[in-house]
Amino acid sequence: MMLQIHPEGPIFSRLIPGLMRLHEWHYSPTELLNWIHAAVDMGMTTFDHADIYGKYTNEARFGEALALEPSLREKIQLVTKCGIQLITENRPHTVVKHYDTSRDYIIASVDRSLQNLQTDYLDLLLIHRPDPLMNPSEVADALETVVQAGKVRFVGVSNFTPSQLKTLQKTLNLPIVTNQVEFSVSQLSPLTDGTFDQAFRYQFSPMIWSPLGGGRIFQEGTPLYDTLHQVGGELGGKGVDQVALAWVLQHPVNVLPVLGTGKLERLKSAVDALTITLDRQQWFRIWQASTGHPVA
Ligand SMILES: NC(=O)c1ccc[n+]([C@@H]2O[C@H](COP(=O)([O-])OP(=O)(O)OC[C@H]3O[C@@H](n4cnc5c(N)ncnc54)[C@H](OP(=O)(O)O)[C@@H]3O)[C@@H](O)[C@H]2O)c1
Repeated sequence: MMLQIHPEGPIFSRLIPGLMRLHEWHYSPTELLNWIHAAVDMGMTTFDHADIYGKYTNEARFGEALALEPSLREKIQLVTKCGIQLITENRPHTVVKHYDTSRDYIIASVDRSLQNLQTDYLDLLLIHRPDPLMNPSEVADALETVVQAGKVRFVGVSNFTPSQLKTLQKTLNLPIVTNQVEFSVSQLSPLTDGTFDQAFRYQFSPMIWSPLGGGRIFQEGTPLYDTLHQVGGELGGKGVDQVALAWVLQHPVNVLPVLGTGKLERLKSAVDALTITLDRQQWFRIWQASTGHPVA
């Protein structure tokens, strides 16, 4: 269940609950603390945040729960991201959605995340999106500064093209330990756009977001749904969610799915998917149902 995501990187749980939808769950701090415990008991010790989730409020919700039991901090790993400026009443000076990867902004964002999460270190900081105005040496300087200050243990990126990642790595004196990208049975791009090739070359395991297509794969009556359902039947009654997760987990690049559900029974179902093995033809039937055509 645990995986070292890079030879010089952190050890994370293979399945990672994501907190993007936390504000929709309406948990009290105590209920959230119980939820975190239940996830940890199932082996999910790594949690994925971003400063922007819940319009910049979800980190603080999680921090309030953590403050009820500070000793929990050393048993979990916290990932967060920075660099997106949303238009929201919580950022009244932002008039256009934009990115900011300037040195001062990254450092200030880390300090805000630490305060919100009520912790003194982040296990992993990701640059959330490639910024068209990004200056790689300035980003590298900011990342090295927060690591040297002990505020951040490891650094990485999200949604970067292989070329953007390589360019940042060239100037950064720390390993980029992951690229968090969208990948699922309904989003196959990392297989062909060089993202997974680069993960092999740089020896990192990609974290993957929306591993169930953000819930869209559950729409019945599509060829993809029907195939997932059929394969689940062949495997002795496995769920569509489990077959879809087994499909991504089976890729030899060793992805770490970031799960969006707040429901414990769905997290449990995901854990059970770790033991499923698809045969090669089942894997390609799902590929074909997704792309709409057989391989060449
Ligand atoms: N780096 C990035 O740019 C980026 C972008 C987006 C997301 N993320 C991260 O990735 C995480 C996951 O993203 P996601 O929420 O889109 O992932 P997801 O796990 O693909 O989708 C979650 C959605 O699917 C639904 N769902 C899950 N299991 C289901 C089932 N068995 N039947 C029906 N519906 C089901 C959930 O509903 P319920 O809640 O009702 O279970 C929820 O609405 C986020 O929390 C965030 O941490 C990162």
